[in-house]
Amino acid sequence: MGQEIRNFVIIGETSDGKVFRPSDWAERLCSLTSAVGNNKKLKYSQFVSPGTTPAGVKTVIVNPRLYRLDPLAWKFVLDFARDHDLRFEPIPVPPAYTAVAETFRARHSVRRFLPTPVSRDLISEILELASRSPSGTNAQPWKVYALAGAAREALSTALLERYIQNAGEKQEYAYYPDEWVEPWLSRRRKLGFALYELIGISKGDKPRMKEQTGRNLLFFDAPVGLIFTLDRRLAQGMLLDYGIFIGHLIIAAQARGLASCMQTAFTDFPNTIRSHLGISEQEMIVGGLALGHPDPEAPENNIVSEREPVEGFAVFQGF
Ligand SMILES: Cc1cc2nc3c(=O)[nH]c(=O)nc-3n(C[C@H](O)[C@H](O)[C@H](O)COP(=O)(O)O)c2cc1C
Repeated sequence: MGQEIRNFVIIGETSDGKVFRPSDWAERLCSLTSAVGNNKKLKYSQFVSPGTTPAGVKTVIVNPRLYRLDPLAWKFVLDFARDHDLRFEPIPVPPAYTAVAETFRARHSVRRFLPTPVSRDLISEILELASRSPSGTNAQPWKVYALAGAAREALSTALLERYIQNAGEKQEYAYYPDEWVEPWLSRRRKLGFALYELIGISKGDKPRMKEQTGRNLLFFDAPVGLIFTLDRRLAQGMLLDYGIFIGHLIIAAQARGLASCMQTAFTDFPNTIRSHLGISEQEMIVGGLALGHPDPEAPENNIVSEREPVEGFAVFQGF
């Protein structure tokens, strides 16, 4: 479970219900951690900021990260609330946010599934939910081929045959760069090493590496495999809409107890997929998705994929 940052609020009312005076106590307290902005006005810090309750009572909102950043200021603020007998409460996180956050944090790519079947109704339900995702001009550019049972197996058999013959096909769009550079190269390597270590593939063991890569084409044994296509008459930018759609889909799946693994591995064999599923030339193969119940015994399902902290990828201005 990830760290949840829950703000606190100091309410300008004493425990016996009296409004706390002076009326500018909140601004004064906040000025302790404020700075002067470019416009020469006082700029409150994001960790201690003034507010009001819906009833108009002054408040100070305190971000608990202040504790680590400035322990003295944190102590001062807490002592202030305590010494003046002010109410000090956590700001409740909306239950919907908690549920969504838990679903996001629980999702991870699964690369070995149990054969437990998944019903068409359930797949249909999560597809319908995912289709609520936004798309430019509401174009809804997604088209999904949902495969289970013999249909899923037949496609995998055809693909694996091509893969074993090393019969590569021309990719329809470049998903990976021609040359990997930092910092992405290290991240990619880290994932590869973690996977091989967990399943006991030693460095340079090419036959087992090839076998593992080939498991992509089996949808990692998942009972349901999805193939996504995009009509070529649409522009490349619509892959953005597609990404949002798939993002919604994997979260909806997770919330309904299904694990997933997004797979662009299928883009290596667009012709085989097209001919096997009767897909016209007009449709570009975007990728695939394995869906099902995770095998709890499979070591490869235990990869812990780290993330950069927000400060590493977000530039905040004007806060
Ligand atoms: C567009 C896309 C394509 C991916 N293709 C593959 C793939 O072909 N095979 C695979 O094993 N994982 C694939 N992944 C899964 C990523 O490796 C995985 O999302 C990443 O390592 C982060 O781990 P997590 O999903 O467990 O959080 C893909 C993910 C995305 C978003």
